[in-house]
Amino acid sequence: MRHHWLLVGVCGWALLILVFVGKFITSRSVDDYGDRGVQSWTVPPPKLDKTVAEVIPEDQHAKPTDRPSIPPFDPDWHSVNEKRIELLSSMCKNSSISNLTHVSISKFVLDRIFVCDKHKILFCQTPKVGNTQWKKVLIVLNGRFPAVHNVPEYLVHDHARNGLPRLSSLTPQEISHRLNTYFKFLIVRDPFERLISAFKDKFVKNPRNEPWYKQDIAPVIIRKYRKSHRDSELTPSGLHFEDFVRYLGDVGDHRRRMDQQFGARIIHWVTYTELCAPCEIQYSVVGHHETLEQDAPYILRAAGIEGLVSYPHIPPGITHYNRTKVEQYFSGISKLDIRRLFARYQSDFHLFGYPIPDFLLN
Ligand SMILES: *[C@@H]1O[C@H](CO)[C@@H](O)[C@H](O)[C@H]1NC(C)=O
Ligand SMILES: *[C@@H]1O[C@H](CO)[C@@H](O)[C@H](O)[C@H]1NC(C)=O
Ligand SMILES: *[C@@H]1O[C@H](CO)[C@@H](O)[C@H](O)[C@H]1NC(C)=O
Repeated sequence: MRHHWLLVGVCGWALLILVFVGKFITSRSVDDYGDRGVQSWTVPPPKLDKTVAEVIPEDQHAKPTDRPSIPPFDPDWHSVNEKRIELLSSMCKNSSISNLTHVSISKFVLDRIFVCDKHKILFCQTPKVGNTQWKKVLIVLNGRFPAVHNVPEYLVHDHARNGLPRLSSLTPQEISHRLNTYFKFLIVRDPFERLISAFKDKFVKNPRNEPWYKQDIAPVIIRKYRKSHRDSELTPSGLHFEDFVRYLGDVGDHRRRMDQQFGARIIHWVTYTELCAPCEIQYSVVGHHETLEQDAPYILRAAGIEGLVSYPHIPPGITHYNRTKVEQYFSGISKLDIRRLFARYQSDFHLFGYPIPDFLLN
């Protein structure tokens, strides 16, 4: 009997996968970036003043499938999130940073957002904050696997096969409907620490064996932004954090053209505004990496999926902001370059309430 159903399930999935593969082949060949005439959907003003209590479903009969590994839901966290959402919406109205905080809901943004129709959830992916874990949570909710520890690593980022569609794969009407009615969340972290993490992960360690960062992207950045080219002859392929900072702090057209050439890989370092359009899309919850131990159970509760799935174990200490590390990375980089970097990323500091790093700027 069990095997019978398993077989039915497998066949169903095979069919779904075929449908998705077909869709992705036709629509995902180019990763569009920026506002080069890509479509933009205007989202009417939000109606997201639902309280957490209203969002929790009555029928929580499903059994937990994973061992709980993070602290339980903290009822006080609701007000923490409300303050974050208030700050976000007031900062979105700040006209002196409006050219940094407002973007169109382009295909690039819609590509970042993953859809769980069964539970009416949208998740905007912002790398370097444990997104892989959230994707596993949504893959489980979409029904392909019984628990997060069953989701194989290689499938998590394989969106043609993991049953976790991107919002961009839907029609404009379907997109608007979901943006207006679904529970929407994203996770952010200190903007400079995030850039350090991206630099280490993609240009120093490269644990997922993605050769293009070192081979294709690093040389282009070095050629344009390295101060002394005598150094680069000695260490031709090694990107320095200083080169990276100078590249990121360039708000000119040259960098934009480079970013278009780099394609979707820039998701590891472009601003949260560019990734998730937080001033255009009315997110229900903004989680912070630094408080993920509280945010993860809160998000599960607020999204109405508590009890259906649990967030994977968070290794102790990994979410803490480390000022010493930030100071070390920025030591030796000129104030001018750091201020330029800050000028570009200030929207992420302001929108999400991260303290301005005066210790680096002055
Ligand atoms: C608006 O943004 C500017 C520029 O960063 C900042 O100095 C100012 O304090 C902000 N205004 C408000 C009301 O937060
Ligand atoms: C944003 O506007 C300010 C002036 O208000 C300008 O100096 C800055 O270059 C603009 N930034 C971008 C990215 O367009
Ligand atoms: C902070 O970073 C520094 C330098 O990378 C490291 O030596 C230290 O162990 C880190 N501290 C914590 C608490 O992780």
